[in-house]
Amino acid sequence: MTTVDEIAADVFRISTYVPEADLQFGQFLVRDEEPLLFETGMKALFPAVRDAVARVLDPRTLRWVAFSHFESDECGSLNEWLTLAPRAEAACSLVGAVVSVDDFSLRPARKLADGEVIATGRRRFRFLHTPHVPHCWDAGVLFEETDRTLFCTDLLQQNGERPPLGGDELVGLCREALVAYQQGPFAHYLPYTRSTGPTLARLAALEPRTLATMHGSVFHGDGARALRDLARVYADVLG
Ligand SMILES: [Fe+2]
Ligand SMILES: [Fe+2]
Repeated sequence: MTTVDEIAADVFRISTYVPEADLQFGQFLVRDEEPLLFETGMKALFPAVRDAVARVLDPRTLRWVAFSHFESDECGSLNEWLTLAPRAEAACSLVGAVVSVDDFSLRPARKLADGEVIATGRRRFRFLHTPHVPHCWDAGVLFEETDRTLFCTDLLQQNGERPPLGGDELVGLCREALVAYQQGPFAHYLPYTRSTGPTLARLAALEPRTLATMHGSVFHGDGARALRDLARVYADVLG
């Protein structure tokens, strides 16, 4: 069952709960002159995600397929999207494009440098290259500057079937998820390095109002405080 919820003006959370993983897999669709999808979901989810997008806009008009890092839940159905939407272009970090995406993808990606902006019409998305945060060398996040929405990929992950929106309780739920993972085959899901704390501090300084995480509820509230709290959780559980 794939759900679609408008979590900010013209920003839609598409979410599918996968019971085998006890995890929701989310994508974010932004309705603008140049529609943008952040994260595609795995290839197996493509029909469900495409139909969910169609509830909001014509999927063939998608212009940008952006994502954080090269993993199936981030960009597994990139080629399905490039086939369906003739004007669609992948957008990811320069490292992601050079190392993996341009070899995998039907068309070359737009290679985003740290600080570069994608303008989609009314909205501007600033790309921040965040190596190994949440994980992978190529990782990055998008920050929508008008409404201060941070598309933060695996950061703030919560397990289970969660409502579309949440608040301060999400940091504690993220801690529970990380502690549980550390005790099983998914241990070391997120690396903790010398740059983890400073990178999270850099994201907190953006003072986001919304943290659009791909696994679990989207956070609404004091995003700076939540990210600083999250940094302490990471240091505690992973450091
Ligand atoms: Fe993920
Ligand atoms: Fe990931």
